[in-house]
Order: sequence, then structure tokens, then C-alpha cells
Amino acid sequence: MTNSPIEAINVEPRLLCGPGPANISPDVLAALSKPLLGHLDPDMFEILTELAAMTARVYQRDEGDGVTLPISATGTSGMEAGIAALVEPGSTVIIGVNGYFGRRLVEIANRYHANVVEVEADWGQAVTNEALLEALAANPDARLMAVVHAETSSGVRHDLAELGEAMKDNDTFLMADCVTALGGIEVALSAWGVDYAYSCSQKCLAMSPGMSPISISQRAVDFMRSQPKPNTFYLDPQLLEAYWLTRPPAYHHTLPSPLVFGLHEALREVLNEGLEARWARHAEAGAYLQAAMAERNMELLADPAHQLPQLTAVLVPEGIDGAGVQKQMLREHGIEIGGGLPGAPAMWRFGLMGYNANTATADKVLAAFDAVMADAPTLAAA
Ligand SMILES: Cc1ncc(COP(=O)(O)O)c(C=O)c1O
Repeated sequence: MTNSPIEAINVEPRLLCGPGPANISPDVLAALSKPLLGHLDPDMFEILTELAAMTARVYQRDEGDGVTLPISATGTSGMEAGIAALVEPGSTVIIGVNGYFGRRLVEIANRYHANVVEVEADWGQAVTNEALLEALAANPDARLMAVVHAETSSGVRHDLAELGEAMKDNDTFLMADCVTALGGIEVALSAWGVDYAYSCSQKCLAMSPGMSPISISQRAVDFMRSQPKPNTFYLDPQLLEAYWLTRPPAYHHTLPSPLVFGLHEALREVLNEGLEARWARHAEAGAYLQAAMAERNMELLADPAHQLPQLTAVLVPEGIDGAGVQKQMLREHGIEIGGGLPGAPAMWRFGLMGYNANTATADKVLAAFDAVMADAPTLAAA
């Protein structure tokens, strides 16, 4: 054993233009290193109340409609919290599956012993609302219908507003995965009748990973209150509400105050920019990148009618070593892009999210991509 000092880690900056996390603004980075506050500090509670209200505004959840707050954990925590609180063993849950994250919903619902009805679509296609509503007609007692609003594994958008409208008079709860949607495309929970939504902090909200904003409609909150306690303590929305929103608060867990401050700054940026302006910025950046890929004869995976702006999945051309291209983008240009998730066709995933959703960033990515593709690694050579 030597007593030589351990060096501090050195982290090279990256341009994060894959499926997330995305880069954050200097102000959000600064907010992450504000002085720590204790989770029971009176000054903290004012911040929590304000942050919950800001989160509801970004989700377009009406004031007085249910409960909205961020969980201190990543997006998957919001997914699991919703299933745990709304589903009991044997409940029928209809899930739209057209990629990796719909599949994750199935996995979690199965772990809570739901009776899962999968409604599938191929990679790159949206699950049709027609097929989902047919499944609902065949299972009228379904407790929950769950869809992925923005499927990050393929770049496909779900027609969530239309589904909400069709389910308006239905007792089945509607759940939406808004992990890649929130802050990047329109989300209007109260108007659309979405009962439970979850998201993350590290994509179009442009904060570090670590927070999962959730939003629950009043009728779903009422239902949860009528139910036995869910089989999760950490992710129980009612316990989270008792700390985040009820005054005096009931201690639940030691809140990571840096993440609270970071998310506050990130949502402040979102709301000061304006929701519509932010969606327009994402739309412009995404369309720009997608047109540039088409000019390069690259094939996009997603059905154009459901293409997300913030995530562009590009099929790897025959014979090209997709992982090799990704590696060169990273090592030679400091740019992270994504590859395909398990089960997916060979692809690259380009993200222009949050702080990075602009044409100047797209140009940097395209310049690096062109440089790598000029002498692209091939599968034969790999
Ligand atoms: C659509 C979608 N759902 C859920 C998740 C899981 O979120 P996290 O990795 O933050 O737990 C992700 C992550 O990329 C996602 O893209």
C-alpha cells in the first residue's frame, strides 16, 4: 500500500448531442453549486413551493388540478412511481410499445403484477390511437392506458392530444412518458386530460440528470388517496406531496438541494423564454438537422408525420461501422451522439435538446459528421 495522493478526476467537456443528457447553460451549472441548504431549512420550503408551481406551468397543468412535483431521481423513477400508485396486482394496463421505453413500461407494469395488454408498432412508426382505443374497447375495465409521448429510441412522437380527447369521458387513467417531450414539444396535461405524466431533467429542460418531474390529475390523486399504500416508500406520491407541498412539511428524504436549485434555474429559463418560443426553437433546429441529413442521402427512421424535432434517428448506411463513427465523433470532435438501443435497427441518434436546440449547434454536429464520414470506418475493416 502506498500513500501517494489520489489525483482529482479530469473531465473533458463534450458537446452532448445524443439522446440525453444534453448540455446545460452556464447559469444552470452555477445554480448546481449554490450553497447547500438542509431539507428542513425554512428557506427551502419557499423554493420547493415555487419550483412545484413552475413545474406545473411547464407541464401546463392547471392550478388546482392535482399534484405536480419533481422526484429526486431520474426519469425512470417517475415511470415507476406512477405504476406503483395506480396499478394493483391484476389491474389491466394497456401500453403502447414502439420502442425501448414503451418496453420498459411493460417491464415495470409486469413487476407490479399488472395484466399487461401490449399494443405494438414497428420501430419508427407511431402506435395508432385507433389500435389503442380498440384495446380499450376490448378491455373496458382497464385501469391505465400508457404511451410514450416522445419515444427517444426511435424519434417518434405520439398523438397524445388526440388520445386524451378520445378518452375524455373514460374512467381509465391516461399516463404519458414525457421524458424527452417536456420543454421540447407541446405538452398540455390538463387540456389533454393526461392523468399522470413523468419526465426527466436532463433533456429538453437542460439540467443535469437527477430529477423526475411528475404531474398527477385531481381524479388520479383522489383515486390514490382511496387506495391502500403503494408497495414503494421512496416513490409514494402522497409521501412526496406531504413533504413538497403540505405545510408544515413531513420529512420524507434528504432532498438533494443542488438539484433543486439547478432545476429551479432550468425551469426559470424555460418559462422566461416562453413555452411556445422554446418549442419553436426545437422545431427549427430539428427540421434543419433533418433536412441536412436528407441532403446527405441519409435515411431517417421515423415516419415523417411523427418525427420528433429534438431526436433524429438516422439509419446507418449499409457497410458503415455505426459504432466506429460514434467513437470518432467523440474522440476526434468531442461530440456525443447515440447509437441504437437493444433490439433496434442500426442507427445513430442525434439530439438537439434544451440549450443545444439551435442551428449553430446542428452545424457543429454536421461538420464533425461530414469529417468522419469522409473516411468512414466500414464494417469489413472493423
Ligand atoms: C422516453 C424515455 N423514457 C424514460 C427514460 C428513462 O429516464 P432515465 O434514464 O432518466 O431514468 C428515458 C431515458 O432516456 C427516455 O428517453
